[in-house]
Amino acid sequence: MSDARGVLRLESLSRSYGPVKALDGVDLEVRAGEMITLVGPSGSGKSTILRLIAGLDRPDHGRVYVDGADVARVPPHRRSVAMVFQDYALFPHLTVRGNLLFGLRVRRVPRAEADRRARAAAERLGIADLLDRHPDQMSGGQRQRVALARALLREPSVYLLDEPLASLDAPLRFATRADLLTLHRELRTTTIHVTHDQQEAMTLGDRVVVLAAGRVRQVGPPQQVYDEPADTFVAGFLGSPPMNLVPGGGVLGGTPDETLGVRPEDLALAPEGPVAVTVEAVEALGSEAVLLTRCADGTRLTVRTGPRPGVGPGDPVRLRADRIHRFDTATGLRR
Ligand SMILES: Nc1ncnc2c1ncn2[C@@H]1O[C@H](COP(=O)(O)OP(=O)(O)O)[C@@H](O)[C@H]1O
Ligand SMILES: [Mg+2]
Repeated sequence: MSDARGVLRLESLSRSYGPVKALDGVDLEVRAGEMITLVGPSGSGKSTILRLIAGLDRPDHGRVYVDGADVARVPPHRRSVAMVFQDYALFPHLTVRGNLLFGLRVRRVPRAEADRRARAAAERLGIADLLDRHPDQMSGGQRQRVALARALLREPSVYLLDEPLASLDAPLRFATRADLLTLHRELRTTTIHVTHDQQEAMTLGDRVVVLAAGRVRQVGPPQQVYDEPADTFVAGFLGSPPMNLVPGGGVLGGTPDETLGVRPEDLALAPEGPVAVTVEAVEALGSEAVLLTRCADGTRLTVRTGPRPGVGPGDPVRLRADRIHRFDTATGLRR
């Protein structure tokens, strides 16, 4: 099956917890060596998908194929997947070395070989000098690296990373994000990276999968999903500040049955622009500014401009919309 190594397929996966439909018919095909970012709001089913792939939970319906084979009857420790949990799930009573060696011992890897691999993984993640420490003697970033090293040691067909950057502070998150990309470029192991952070979704994956309420809303390269969101949910979820969505017949034009969308960066201050608004607030962000504006009919439009827009609260200005997205109001789908 070597030609299928690293290929992952999910087929109409469903899972309910009591009345909660955590997953509602999820289909997904991940290519060998691909890095997929699974993004969606809290509670949308992201962790459930990873748990089903890892075998920590069972689907009510549907199938999981790893390396081309149905893994329904394969227990978690025999699946060729390694998961990094949101809270790292390190053994508190073991040192870093103990945490790294644990899984190798379970799989009866000879001691010398296990030591060599643990050291190599620790060096790769820059934690070789921490091998004798316990988890409570380390920072969050260091613990996170131990969890990643432990996953690396399994040499799996698929990595499952559940919000591995979520509890790091901003500079560390930025640095670790770059490290994850480098690691993936070197190893080329199929990876599903879960996040609720739309910026990570844009920067980390070959493709992004947008999930809402247990359903896949859109799959595609990040820029494509950003440029052509399949529905109003995706339109509002990817992008910060989010896309302005105006139900039909409003200031952006359109028919009553459609909702028009325009991203803040696609609105520009223009003396002859067709949309008249009043500036309500200016958020100066250093490298750019965000204007919060309101039209006479009450519609609010967010505008992204250069760092010094030269307007202030109360100023009447005119806007030009450079790129308008059209959605069906009843279904929310892109037209
Ligand atoms: N073991 C469980 N028991 C009950 N409800 C659960 C369980 N696991 C997940 N859920 C529910 O399923 C939904 C999806 O959860 P989850 O996959 O953890 O979402 P996400 O990771 O996207 O935040 C949520 O509504 C959550 O409360
Ligand atoms: Mg989760």
